[in-house]
Amino acid sequence: MTFEQWTRSVLERVETALEHYLPTEATEPAKLHEAMRYAVLGGGKRVRPLLCHAAGELTGARAECLDAAAAALEMIHVYSLVHDDMPCMDDDALRRGKPTVHVKYDEATALLVGDALQSQAFVTLTADVLAAPQQASLVRELALASGSIGMCGGQAIDLASVGHTLTRPQLETMHRMKTGALLRAAVRMGALAGVAPDADALRSLDAYAAAVGLAFQVVDDILDVTTDSATLGKTAGKDAKDGKPTYVSIIGLDASRVLAAQLRSDAHAALVPFGARAQRLAELADLVVNRVS
Ligand code: IPE
Ligand code: IPE
Ligand code: MG
Ligand code: MG
Ligand code: MG
Repeated sequence: MTFEQWTRSVLERVETALEHYLPTEATEPAKLHEAMRYAVLGGGKRVRPLLCHAAGELTGARAECLDAAAAALEMIHVYSLVHDDMPCMDDDALRRGKPTVHVKYDEATALLVGDALQSQAFVTLTADVLAAPQQASLVRELALASGSIGMCGGQAIDLASVGHTLTRPQLETMHRMKTGALLRAAVRMGALAGVAPDADALRSLDAYAAAVGLAFQVVDDILDVTTDSATLGKTAGKDAKDGKPTYVSIIGLDASRVLAAQLRSDAHAALVPFGARAQRLAELADLVVNRVS
């Protein structure tokens, strides 16, 4: 199977799983459920679900188990985007090529969409396809990655640093928390959904995920200045306009590109112990760094 074929088949599974694990539009309150589905379905690159499936294939996880973990990851990710776009945060009107949730609906709905997606993510991790001990470990991974020592903490640092400059270590910490943590969780959760990897294997996967997680946000910072809004599906040039410290503002565009390439080779190096079994993860590291949107 080529990477494109593999990606297509996983993306199909992920759409079906999201459809399955989200309440229907007919469920009351219908407007909230419609807005949740508007935010989640039919858009986005689904990078976290892809990472989850690739890591799970490495540890022999059942596809149904990975579907639940992937859907939960994407729900948390979309919740973070919906809140990130609100006027109290980045105040963005465009996401995935469509009006943001607070623009299409209203602010209170956007707040509740995020809240409810977060809850639904954890409901999803208690699906019957997962054994109870797996449910508990996946819930813990996702909660740690998305809370105050992960994504939310990174978002807090991001907001507090608007208009300030950060040192490079501070910037790295912010990026690892706001974006890296959830990508790392995607890899760990995929792996944990299968036969629990031994400590060495988990350490290698973690090193891979840390490199890909940081690379993802470095590339996001690069694309904000190099790509147009139509291609991105979100407003380009927004970081500079808002005075956000980014890799581009702190080390410059060329050095950011060099760093992204370095992180890509770090990710590849971490996969060496797995040999050809880690092919999908290696290809996903390339996708994260070479993407244009
Ligand atoms: C955007 O994430 C926000 C960041 C964490 C940088 P993605 O680039 O994964 O957004 P979608 O899911 O493809 O829309
Ligand atoms: C967002 O970072 C990170 C999270 C949503 C957790 P950004 O603010 O850079 O993401 P975009 O550029 O709006 O997608
Ligand atoms: Mg932001
Ligand atoms: Mg933003
Ligand atoms: Mg950005």
